[in-house]
Amino acid sequence: MSKPGGTEKRDSFASSLGILLAMTGSAVGLGNLWRFPYLVGENGGAAFIIFYLVCVVFLCMPIMMCEFILGRRSQANAFGAYKKLAPGTAWKHAGLLSVLAAAFILSFYSVVGGWSIKYLVMACGLKFTTAGGIQPEPMFNEFVTSNWLPIFYTLAFLACTGIIIIAGVKNGIEKFTKTLMPVLFIMMVVLAVRSMTLPGASEGVRYLFKPDFSKFTASSAMAALGQAFFSLSLGCGTILTYASYVSHKENIMKCSAETTLLDTLFALIAGCAIIPAVFAYGISPGQGPGLVFVTLPAIFAELPAGGVVAIVFFLSLFLAALTSAISLLEVVIAFLIEECKLRRPVAVAVSMSVFVVLAVLCSLSQGALSHVKIFSLNIFDLFDYVSANVLMTFGALFATLFVGHRLSRADIEDELTSSGRYRLPRPLAGFIYFIIRWAAPVVIIALLVAGLIA
Ligand code: TRP
Repeated sequence: MSKPGGTEKRDSFASSLGILLAMTGSAVGLGNLWRFPYLVGENGGAAFIIFYLVCVVFLCMPIMMCEFILGRRSQANAFGAYKKLAPGTAWKHAGLLSVLAAAFILSFYSVVGGWSIKYLVMACGLKFTTAGGIQPEPMFNEFVTSNWLPIFYTLAFLACTGIIIIAGVKNGIEKFTKTLMPVLFIMMVVLAVRSMTLPGASEGVRYLFKPDFSKFTASSAMAALGQAFFSLSLGCGTILTYASYVSHKENIMKCSAETTLLDTLFALIAGCAIIPAVFAYGISPGQGPGLVFVTLPAIFAELPAGGVVAIVFFLSLFLAALTSAISLLEVVIAFLIEECKLRRPVAVAVSMSVFVVLAVLCSLSQGALSHVKIFSLNIFDLFDYVSANVLMTFGALFATLFVGHRLSRADIEDELTSSGRYRLPRPLAGFIYFIIRWAAPVVIIALLVAGLIA
């Protein structure tokens, strides 16, 4: 039985594979299966992908290492990490920002997570077959703008998230993600093979892998960078919080590299599962956010064995969203347990009561509350904008500034090598240090300024 927070022994991950798959579970989500394919479609295919890969390797991986360092060194939640490593300073507010960012993201993320459940249910009822006879576009619009049904599915999604989190880190998060991620991987590969072997798919494959820089603009570059941050779960303390459950024996350099690699692989496989099919059916890839919920159902209806493919796809979408949502919720839960001294189930109940309100508002903002505009954005878009463009960016900026300028180079190397247990060649150490200390903050500040001007 867990004792009141504070005196309770800190939960932790049990195995290296469990850590990797939990981290990957956080990173792989709607960002990979929903956002990445449509951004690729809108921003010129391969050129976007190449720029995305550069951002991921040279910028995001080192930022991820910063979060790993903060979490593992402090063994505390996002707020507590800064408080512990820089006692008595204002740095702890940087941690608070991350907790807020995670809360905002989870609120609108749950709404889309809810949509994925609804679509899974429909797929299981064979609605996306010729016999199903639905018209994807009006159906989608009618569904998201209605009042009760999307709320019901959003709450169902939040409930699934809460149930896994109540079970804790080792027995909840780790067990769940360790079982699911391999299944998700297999399902995605099956989908990609199905899509790439359709007649006429080769044009889509070419679109994905043959760069056309004429369609790649400055705003595509910003979109790629923003997507890389979002996809790798940076800036909200999710990596930090998970890393706080990692023991000092683990190789965090390897784990960040592998998480980055797997997340990128998932995004590419999702691209291969979606874009070639879109081309095979003669549809333009630049459909925007409706790609997954409108364009794909239309394709499933015509695809041989499309009914089964639809089930596999929406099940993947739901599970990927769920493993990311639990990582977002854990940021808030770890904060409540350690800073407000709540027991885990109480922390889950308290946070859920807030999320239910926020998520319901986000859901209604698609329909009944669509006239409520703040800075000319509806609530859903406002949460998305504030978290992705402001809170997360500042969260990542503070993480790099803290690690690069407040911790010493010796501290960083001590953490990256687990006190000398693992080898870190000097040139590589210097390179990582340079990126963390100078390159990453400069690029993030440029991103913030560009976002303000745009
Ligand atoms: N990375 C997840 C995705 O691709 C979403 C996510 C989980 C996230 N935790 C995060 C995004 C923290 C930003 C910050 O869908």
